[in-house]
Amino acid sequence: MMSRHHGTFKKLNIPGPAPWPIIGSLMEINKAGFHSFQLECRKKYGKIYGYFGGLSPQTLVVGDKEMLRKILVKEFNNFSDRIIFKGFNGDLESSVNNLKGNHWKHVRNKITPAFSTGKLRKMVPLVDYASDTLLEALRKKVKDGDGVMEMLEVYGAYAMDVICSTAFGIQVDSQQNPNDEFIVNAKKFMILNFSSSIILILMFLPKLHFLMPFLGWSFIDKHVQKFFRNVTVKLLDERVAGNKDRVDFLQLMKNVQHGEDGDSDEEEDDDIDKENVSGSKLPNSWYRKGITFKEILGNAEIFFLAGYETTMITLTMASYYLAVHPEYQDKLRRELFDKIGSEPLTYDNIRNVAYLDMVINETLRINPPATRTDRVCLKDTEVNGVRIPAGMHISIPIYSIHHDPDNWEDPEKFIPERFEDKDRHDPLTFLPFGYGPRNCIGMRLAQMELKMSLAKIVRTFQICVCSETKIPPDLATFSLLKPKMSKLKLVEIK
Ligand code: HEM
Repeated sequence: MMSRHHGTFKKLNIPGPAPWPIIGSLMEINKAGFHSFQLECRKKYGKIYGYFGGLSPQTLVVGDKEMLRKILVKEFNNFSDRIIFKGFNGDLESSVNNLKGNHWKHVRNKITPAFSTGKLRKMVPLVDYASDTLLEALRKKVKDGDGVMEMLEVYGAYAMDVICSTAFGIQVDSQQNPNDEFIVNAKKFMILNFSSSIILILMFLPKLHFLMPFLGWSFIDKHVQKFFRNVTVKLLDERVAGNKDRVDFLQLMKNVQHGEDGDSDEEEDDDIDKENVSGSKLPNSWYRKGITFKEILGNAEIFFLAGYETTMITLTMASYYLAVHPEYQDKLRRELFDKIGSEPLTYDNIRNVAYLDMVINETLRINPPATRTDRVCLKDTEVNGVRIPAGMHISIPIYSIHHDPDNWEDPEKFIPERFEDKDRHDPLTFLPFGYGPRNCIGMRLAQMELKMSLAKIVRTFQICVCSETKIPPDLATFSLLKPKMSKLKLVEIK
């Protein structure tokens, strides 16, 4: 049975899978998983196709780089929102991730300086401390056992330590103190994440949204929310606006809470606009100056949610690829010794190790933790001959763009050398952090965090496969692209 929505794509002359009544393509996606569904559809329908999600607006999938350049950058103002489920995000409702239109622009503008080069440089000691803690824990594990370990656990604890210190200014050692109240609550907080099947159902049946608050359904457990609200109130009360000794995000947000612009010693951001935000300055047309307590709380929480699993997965997969390809691991180790020797790692010297960047990029290309992102069309817009009506959802199939042989030769092969010459590939064919003014705000913090820990581990240990390593790994089907398990063996280099 053809639906009204399917008819829309027919009229636009856009191919795509025929939908089931009510549930659209939900079953196919559920069966194949988002990343495999993307690959199958690209093979069948090409780079631009449409599918229909039950009662939700139609979804136009755009894997074509020229169209994406328009949607994500040139025509950004007509596509600045992401799909947002209202009513059951609890305190996350006010986070930058869940805001729309000018409200989003205002909050994003206010918190962007917290991620500037100057601020990140000041955060290095926090990340350095967490990566030293990680190294110590690994040394102990190797000394006390056979060196075989579940990398997801090891890197999960590290990612948790980094977020606790950079977001909340709290030092925890999740390896040693897994029962700390903060960690226990943070872990519960992360159980229901973007990968939850509730999200998938709501994406396809958004008319059910209105029921959620009545059913008391929220992504986050009420007690966990209360815990974080209380902690944030307490920590904010202790903070003095403008305190330059503290550089965690809570402090940086407190600094702009009442409309002050934060530190005046802020060095101009050298990379943020040039690298990926495309230089388009966001208009600041919101009616108030500062940000509210609710926005601070929501953002502190979203930094947890958005930064934890993504980082853990990337480190786990990078270690896996280095174990499976010891020749690349040796090359990375050699370059680390050539460029840094046994000197301490700093924000600057680590940026000189080009091969580290290449290994991480290639990991994120083959295995982007977020396999897709999206935008909503806000105003009828013609993009490269396709007339996109207001209200249509745009899905950006990051995974299939990264695995498209038109973009990458032998896309399934792990070859860090592809990233040797940065200018050789179009940035719209490599989008692990999204692209344009609404890209990942934590991108450079994540890169620093990934580099610090991977560099320290490769300098200290040989990462090896063992009899329990699953090659290739089993990947979760419709969540973040996460291996179900990842056992590797570490051997200390004497
Ligand atoms: C390897 C690590 C990470 C990956 C792969 C990743 C990936 C992404 C992607 C694909 C998006 C959507 C971008 C778009 O739609 O164009 C995103 C958004 C976002 N990320 Fe990340 N992320 C990572 C780490 C982090 C960290 C460490 C933080 C926070 C400290 C963070 C905070 C956010 C936020 C707040 C958004 C929403 C931005 C907005 O709507 O304005 N992410 N991330």
